[in-house]
Amino acid sequence: MNYLRLAVTDRCNLRCFYCMPEEGIKYLPKKELLTYEEMLRLCSNLAELGVSKIRLTGGEPFVRNDLMDFIRNLNEIPGINSINLTTNGVLTGKYIPDFSSVGIKTVNLSLDTFDKERFFKITRRNEFDKVVDTFYKLLDSGIDVKINAVVMEGQNIEDLNSLVALTKDHKVDVRFIEEMPFNGEGMHYPKLIWNHKKIIDHIKGAYPELQRIVDPPNSTSYGYQVPGYKGQIGVIAAFTRTFCGTCNRIRLTAQGQLKTCLYDDGVFDFRDFIRSGVSDVQIKDKFIELFGSRAKDGFEAEKRRSANSIVSESMSTIGG
Ligand code: GTP
Ligand code: 5AD
Ligand code: SF4
Repeated sequence: MNYLRLAVTDRCNLRCFYCMPEEGIKYLPKKELLTYEEMLRLCSNLAELGVSKIRLTGGEPFVRNDLMDFIRNLNEIPGINSINLTTNGVLTGKYIPDFSSVGIKTVNLSLDTFDKERFFKITRRNEFDKVVDTFYKLLDSGIDVKINAVVMEGQNIEDLNSLVALTKDHKVDVRFIEEMPFNGEGMHYPKLIWNHKKIIDHIKGAYPELQRIVDPPNSTSYGYQVPGYKGQIGVIAAFTRTFCGTCNRIRLTAQGQLKTCLYDDGVFDFRDFIRSGVSDVQIKDKFIELFGSRAKDGFEAEKRRSANSIVSESMSTIGG
């Protein structure tokens, strides 16, 4: 377990169809969130246990005040050698020039379409121009950038091939993600329509020359490339869960719940644990104990959820 996904807030400035109902979700009061000091303490303990990569998620990470100062402090923790961000790009642009100095190595940008009207329909907010501006600024800054596009029947199927076309001249990794029921409501369809195989078959219809490429270790994405294109594409079988065997991830939600799988409903409350005055040794022992009883895959984690707790919480509260 060497990769922590840390949600710094449950708040978001968009209302994406696949993540929240139109009216939004009930946000937590600030005192129920981990403070930055508490996050740094948990991260230091995890670094001592071997965690070396952290991805900051949310909600939208930049909705939380003073995020860059927090990242600078995170970057000082011995053993943490890779800090990464997943962002919707609305507030991100102005911070990009400082990314490399605070240690941000890569940015994953949520952008499900390059069509302004469909962007509005999906996100229910009129922020397309800012997000596209962030995308080009990221490319210019030389930071590795991946685009996350959740594939949704009736929403952005007409965009899949134009997102692939973007990789012709841009060194970007466009990942097509299976939609999961983490949206505050539950499954949008009786069964998943756009699974990873269907997504790739659809793209091969326009790009028959598409080639499978070698993936980095522990990748959740199956990579492909159109020969001669600068960028690459990938498909993430997030709902089909075909990559659990190589999973190296743990998650902390903004309120300090540890998740040893995306599909569990939280296996331990580290916020109340640290607020009860425990020592660093007790924190590390607790992590080790919980890692030892981790589910073998996302299906087992889902089965172990407490009674009546079906997978339907908003991604904004768990970080993705
Ligand atoms: P890197 O591999 O570090 O680039 O991160 P990533 O691509 O996993 O992170 P990102 O936050 O961009 O997530 C992309 C999609 O993959 C989101 O829909 C996530 O919810 C999903 N995802 C990330 N990790 C897991 C996982 O462990 N299990 C499942 N089922 N989905 C995941
Ligand atoms: N299903 C699949 N992916 C989702 N994301 C958010 N909600 C869902 C969902 N229900 C993705 C966003 C973001 C990443 C962290 O998770 O695209 O980039
Ligand atoms: Fe890991 Fe769970 Fe994701 Fe599978 S579904 S890769 S076990 S977090």
